[in-house]
Amino acid sequence: MKAHIAKPLLRWYHARRRSLPWREQPEPYAVWVAEIMAQQTRLETMLPYYQRWMRRFPTVQALAAAREQQVLNAWEGLGYYSRARNLHKAARQLVAEAGGQMPRSAAGLRELPGVGAYTAGAIASLAFGEDVPAVDGNAVRVLSRLFDVEEPVQTAAGQQRLWALAAEHLPAGHAAEYNQALMDLGATLCSPRPKCAECPLRAQCLAYGRGTQLLRPVKQRPAELPVRRYAAAVLWQDGKVLVLQRPPRGLLAGMWEFPNVLLQNAAAKTQLTRGLRTELGARVKVGAALGEFEHTYSHFRAELRVYDCQLMGEFNKPARPHKWLAPRNLGRLPMGKLDRGVADRLQERHAG
Ligand code: ADE
Ligand code: SF4
Repeated sequence: MKAHIAKPLLRWYHARRRSLPWREQPEPYAVWVAEIMAQQTRLETMLPYYQRWMRRFPTVQALAAAREQQVLNAWEGLGYYSRARNLHKAARQLVAEAGGQMPRSAAGLRELPGVGAYTAGAIASLAFGEDVPAVDGNAVRVLSRLFDVEEPVQTAAGQQRLWALAAEHLPAGHAAEYNQALMDLGATLCSPRPKCAECPLRAQCLAYGRGTQLLRPVKQRPAELPVRRYAAAVLWQDGKVLVLQRPPRGLLAGMWEFPNVLLQNAAAKTQLTRGLRTELGARVKVGAALGEFEHTYSHFRAELRVYDCQLMGEFNKPARPHKWLAPRNLGRLPMGKLDRGVADRLQERHAG
């Protein structure tokens, strides 16, 4: 079944879209300059450069006529100077060979120096209305979560999958809005720490449904580190959850965590039940999975599966400091990356 992503995405975009100069007037040369400048540079940083550049070199012809020193001078501060050199070279090529006219298709644009798949797709869709995707880093994050993509995203297979998904869901005749909506969503709500509660695509998002948002996009495994698998409990009592303080020495000393066990070979739920009985003297019913989390420390990789749990009887005070807190109060306690991910998830689920 083809999930309908486009409709709610475009509705959100029309309500929330950021105003950018080359969006309001998507003239091909303006879009080209902007999309090259925005690579490896934040929009807020590049905007003043963009404005100045467009005053100094307002057309392909003006850029072609400029001396290289002027061009590099206008780029100074943005870094990655090959981007400026390629723009200049391409402008001269267009003037010499095409009367200064830019190719109107993504395939044609790809032939220009410095224009890759993303830039070609962005120019073709924004300036010429071609129905082609343009998948930048922000769109990669969104798409990999929406479709819970398990392939590492930097690989050829991963890239191919993401571009295919983007193409498959592209609404005919609306490529410019669709492409930019994916980018804007990735830049705002679907950020590295996503704000799923506010997301217009929550109902369609596979990662949201499975609790795997923070595992996407999958990056190439760094080193071959040993893996430690844990199960943790969100243990509920009267609308509050239990957190325990870690020992004063060692990893994440003194920080707060959800009760957890290092998994051996038995089933996660069984081990969690046993571990909680040992530490808390309590009978606990392990319920639905809340999600999965992972984090790479210097000498091992930790994978955490989290379950909602109910206290079924007496609770013995644990040997280490503990607190029962409503989810909205978890923000005050210092936590490691994994437990913070769990806390964010709870706060979001129980917001409002
Ligand atoms: N980043 C670079 N170009 C962009 C665009 N056109 N829309 C949103 N984010 C962008
Ligand atoms: Fe991203 Fe969350 Fe929206 Fe999914 S629900 S697209 S993970 S913000």
